[in-house]
Amino acid sequence: MSVSTGNTRRLFFALWPDPEVRSQLASASHQWARRPVAEANLHMTLAFLGARTEQEQHCFCEAVSIIECEPFELQLDYLGGRAKSGIQWLAASRIPEALPELVSSLNAALELCGYQPEQRRFLPHITLARKVKKPLIKAGLEAIHWPVRDFVLVESLPVEGGVRYEVLERWPFAKTPQARPG
Ligand code: 2AM
Repeated sequence: MSVSTGNTRRLFFALWPDPEVRSQLASASHQWARRPVAEANLHMTLAFLGARTEQEQHCFCEAVSIIECEPFELQLDYLGGRAKSGIQWLAASRIPEALPELVSSLNAALELCGYQPEQRRFLPHITLARKVKKPLIKAGLEAIHWPVRDFVLVESLPVEGGVRYEVLERWPFAKTPQARPG
């Protein structure tokens, strides 16, 4: 069940791994991090919206519903991180064009509802652990293959000792084929 905090919800758009990919990501997080992110929380953020009203949420959902994106595959083979933010992440050394294109389409759609896209360049990653003093950098890992077929809107809910994420809505890439005339 979804719960609102005051009159707003803390929202973000993300790629959400299926159980099989999630389990592989969890194995990687346990391999590379001492205090890994909870398995159920592993995801790739596309756009972080922050605290939003129901009206704003409705606008965002309407706006993104027209986005078209070809299905694509991520090969997660790169362990990265930043000492400054203390984040250890998993990423892809080669990023399919469809991914930044999807983020651009999302940003353009969300701007219609007053969202201000991040000024920083989009750095696609899956956070494996936080508060890491010396994040590891390693290329050429055995890749985790993630076939991406949709994107989702997620609510971040505070729970004791952390957060819990709940998928509120999902937009599959493949649209229902139109009947051909004749
Ligand atoms: P991160 O994994 O790189 O920390 C939910 O909070 C998700 O939104 C997190 O995965 C986080 O990315 C991302 N995010 C992006 N900007 C954020 C912000 N200003 N505050 C919190 N989370 C943010």
